Amino acid sequence: MNRAPQLNRPPTTTDSGEPRRIEDTPLSEARIKRDGDERHGYRPEAGSDDDLAVSVRGLTNQFGEQIVHQNLDLDVRRGEILGVVGGSGTGKSVLMRSILGLNVPQAGKIDVFGTDALTNDDAVRRRIDLRSGVLFQDGALFSSLTVAENVALPLKEHHEEIDDDLRAQLVRLKIRLAGLPDEAADKLPAQLSGGMRKRAGLARALALDPDLLFLDEPTAGLDPIGAAAFDQLILTLQQALGFTVFLITHDLDTLYAICNRVAVLADKRVLINAPIQQVEQFDHPWVQEYFHGPRGRAAQHSAQVA
Ligand SMILES: Nc1ncnc2c1ncn2[C@@H]1O[C@H](COP(=O)(O)OP(=O)(O)O)[C@@H](O)[C@H]1O
Ligand SMILES: [Mg+2]
Repeated sequence: MNRAPQLNRPPTTTDSGEPRRIEDTPLSEARIKRDGDERHGYRPEAGSDDDLAVSVRGLTNQFGEQIVHQNLDLDVRRGEILGVVGGSGTGKSVLMRSILGLNVPQAGKIDVFGTDALTNDDAVRRRIDLRSGVLFQDGALFSSLTVAENVALPLKEHHEEIDDDLRAQLVRLKIRLAGLPDEAADKLPAQLSGGMRKRAGLARALALDPDLLFLDEPTAGLDPIGAAAFDQLILTLQQALGFTVFLITHDLDTLYAICNRVAVLADKRVLINAPIQQVEQFDHPWVQEYFHGPRGRAAQHSAQVA
């Protein structure tokens, strides 16, 4: 099986084909790069804001005494699959919820497609929500609704103008896109296997044709074959539809198989955000254990022989 990804990487060259240099970027951004705060392992690279789906700067999240994020920076480039990893409780889900406007941070700035995502303007936030699809960690399907009814919900909520017939067609299309058989449409979530429930959640996340897809641990609990199939589905959909993916995962195989870059959360911030070959080399105890412990070596091996 060839799992080596052919990814649409964001441009690292200028229009004339030269590698993008710091001199090519606007002065303000170049300054951020040169004058990077020494306390940060990772500084977002200079580049045009147009290249970014998400930009997070100086994010602080705190619950009571517990500081989850402190001065966290992160860029997600348009059209990439970014893998987000980190130990349990490092704040991966909270970071996702902050970008989605579901968690209000104590401090920081978050832009989604160049728009302030922390705005109090409901109309602006709604426009961002319309461009975002989410598969939550627990699937979060309504248990009393069928798969088709779950997938129809975002369409009903945001597109009242779509009539019942067209909506039913769109729902069927999304269910097929997520790799489910038509028969799954009339089943309740409890009647599906774990893998099929994930696909149903994905179908709902795709309901509004998102430009930005958030996936929180989508392969957790799936067997290795089911997980690999789900990875390939995400990659195929991303290549066909061109959206940007923010993918939280524990699964090393997923990182090697489909992610353009990997962001590591530790010590309340993003330590490094880079192609996996660079991340593997990063000198930090958690990174070294994760990538070079027994599971890491096995995933590297299977990526090489693929
Ligand atoms: N709404 C909340 N209220 C209080 N604590 C929270 C809340 N959401 C998350 N936390 C805490 O923040 C930390 C990070 O959580 P989370 O982002 O879910 O971690 P993970 O990286 O495993 O996804 C955890 O210690 C969690 O208990
Ligand atoms: Mg989580």
